[in-house]
This record gives sequence, structure tokens and C-alpha cells, in this order.
Amino acid sequence: MYIEDVRSRFKKHFNDAEGAVYASPGRINLIGEHTDYNGGFVFPGAIDKGMIAEIKPNGTQIVRAYAIDLKDYVEFGLQEKDAPTASWARYIFGVCREMMKRGVVIKGFNTAFSGDVPLGAGMSSSAALESTYAFALNEIFGDNKIDKFELAKIGQATEHNYCGVNCGIMDQFASVFGKKGSLIRLDCRSMEYEYFPFNPKGYKLVLLDSVVKHELASSAYNKRRESCENVVKAMQQLHPEVELLRDADLAMLNEVKEAVSAEDFMRAKYVIEEIQRVLDVCDALQKGDYETVGEKMYATHEGMSKLYEVSCEELDFLTDVARDCGVTDSRVMGGGFGGCTINLVKEELYALFVEKAKADFKERFGKSPKVYDVVISDGSRCLIR
Ligand code: GLA
Repeated sequence: MYIEDVRSRFKKHFNDAEGAVYASPGRINLIGEHTDYNGGFVFPGAIDKGMIAEIKPNGTQIVRAYAIDLKDYVEFGLQEKDAPTASWARYIFGVCREMMKRGVVIKGFNTAFSGDVPLGAGMSSSAALESTYAFALNEIFGDNKIDKFELAKIGQATEHNYCGVNCGIMDQFASVFGKKGSLIRLDCRSMEYEYFPFNPKGYKLVLLDSVVKHELASSAYNKRRESCENVVKAMQQLHPEVELLRDADLAMLNEVKEAVSAEDFMRAKYVIEEIQRVLDVCDALQKGDYETVGEKMYATHEGMSKLYEVSCEELDFLTDVARDCGVTDSRVMGGGFGGCTINLVKEELYALFVEKAKADFKERFGKSPKVYDVVISDGSRCLIR
């Protein structure tokens, strides 16, 4: 979907003069999964796929929103009681409400949006939507008074308060702060971040979409977070200074082994190991040592599959194929429970790997995985004022 398409649909739907056009991307994450809400490190980058929205104030107190791809239209007021039921509209409503809570006077507007970031594939289509509106409404109604961190937090709070997902900050952060050609290492405790140019010569980054969508992903996600919090509470008995799993190490975890459930123990073990893996990967990247990066990513997959239990048969299968083909690194990306694997593949292996993954997967599961090449790109922006 291109800008011109969004513009013509907006015009047709609202019979209105042109509004301003904004865009925000989805994201990949090289390593550091389920570490953000534990105060650890993440290593995401924005991608060349995302959401585009046209927006024009309409002089009322009503938002009129058209989801072009879903062919769905919703109107809602801006008070708490006006929350729409359509899940896509709740993202826009939530962003409006969170901005109002921060003192921005939001008024009614007409809007149409479309996206090319696949829904439910682990590339954060919802964060792309939230960031698009947070960025846009800050310009249109807020005199740009809200800073970029707060815009990301508005998206996160929307998930918490209006969509039932107690997510961390990674997706919204990556969508707002993305920079062409760079991954970003974010310390989710201090919120310090650093851009790392990412141009692995001789390698290609490819996502393989298992096309599995987990129905109960948000409650399973929230449950993982609770497990981590349970372990922190147990540790605080011995180490009151521990606020998040970031503050703990494996020795401390072993001390509370008897005090926590076996399941919570496994979850925390994965998180503590994963936080360290991100740092190891940063070191390896600085040396251009992609083989070590690869080893760590496979280890992440193993942890997500066996300890955190957020993988599934289809994703395990895709990483096994990658390993068999000699792919440098491969693992489930994002929250899990379906979605994509992220693969760093030597150029000379690329065609063979993708063909084999497609064929083997089809034979095993009777359907084809989708293949997405991604380019690391810029974050939230205004396309037309
Ligand atoms: C989802 C959440 C993020 C993060 C990842 C897992 O994408 O929105 O905050 O926790 O899962 O790393």
C-alpha cells in the first residue's frame, strides 16, 4: 500500500480535503527476547514495513476511523466510556486516551490507515499502529511537546490499559527510534540506548513466517511476565535490592530454587541467560564475528523453546532446517507462540535455504511459510504535512 492509495481511499471514504500523512515501522529483534519487561537489554531495529495513516481534524469530538485493509469503519468519542469494541480501533482509542492523560487536548479527526507489516507475525504491527498515531497526534494536537520516549510509553500503556497485553517497551521504542541501517541496543532499565550500524557483508537477513497465530498469545505472554515477577519476589527475601531479573544472576536463582515453582524457575533461568547473551552478541558484532552471534541466537531459540516455552512445533522445525542447511543463526523472534523465525544467512546459502525450508515445511505441515526480506529502516515520521 502506497501513500497515494491511502490518500485516495481517505478522500473517497470521507469526501474530505487532504490531511497529513504519517508512518511508523514494525521491527525485528536480533536478540534479547522477553528481557525488556525484566529490565534487561534488547537489540531491535525498525524495518521497511509498517503502517501509514492519513489524519485530518474534523471539528467535532468524534474520531472516525477507517481500516483500509480490513474494510472496517468505526466511530468513537474520546471519553473513557467511549471505548470501541473492534480490537484495531482500541489501539487508536488507547493512544488518544493516553495522550489526554498526559495533558494533550485531543479533538475529533478523520483517519484512514493501511499497513504492509503482516499482522500477528511477530513484527509488531500493533506497535507500528500505536506509534503512528502517537507521533501524529503529538504534532497535530500537542505542539510536539511530548518527547520520543514518552511517545513509545504511550503505545506501551495503550497495550496495558486498552488491549490486555502487559508488554515491555521494545516494540514501541524500536518503532519510534528506528534508524536506517542501524540496530539499537536498549538498556530497558536505564533506557540508555546506542545505535549499532548493521551491515553484515556477505549475509542476508530473512524472516520465515510459520503462519501460526496463537489464539491465547496475550494471556500466555502475561503469564510469562508473572512468573518472572514471582521469582523476583522470592529473591527479595534474601536480596532486597533485586527489583527486576536484570539485577539477579544464576547463583541467586539457585538460592530460591525450592521457594519457587519449577515452571517459574525455568522461566527466570531463560531470562537471566538471555540478558547475558545480548551483551555477548554486542561484543561479537563489534568484532564482526557473526559465527558467535549465530551460536548465541541458536541458544536463544533453545531457551525460548525449552525453558520459556514460547515456541511451537512449526518454529522449531524451521530452525532445525536452518541448522541443517548451515545457516549462521536462526531463532523464533518476538513474543513467540507463532510468528516468524529470524535468520542470518550467508548469501551463497540463501536460495538453497529458502527453497528447502519452503519445501520441507510444506511437506510436513501442508502449507507454505511466508518469506520476508527486511531492510533496517527509519522510525516514526511525517510523510506529508
Ligand atoms: C512482544 C512484546 C515486547 C517483548 C517481546 C519479546 O513483542 O511486545 O515488549 O517483550 O514480545 O521480546
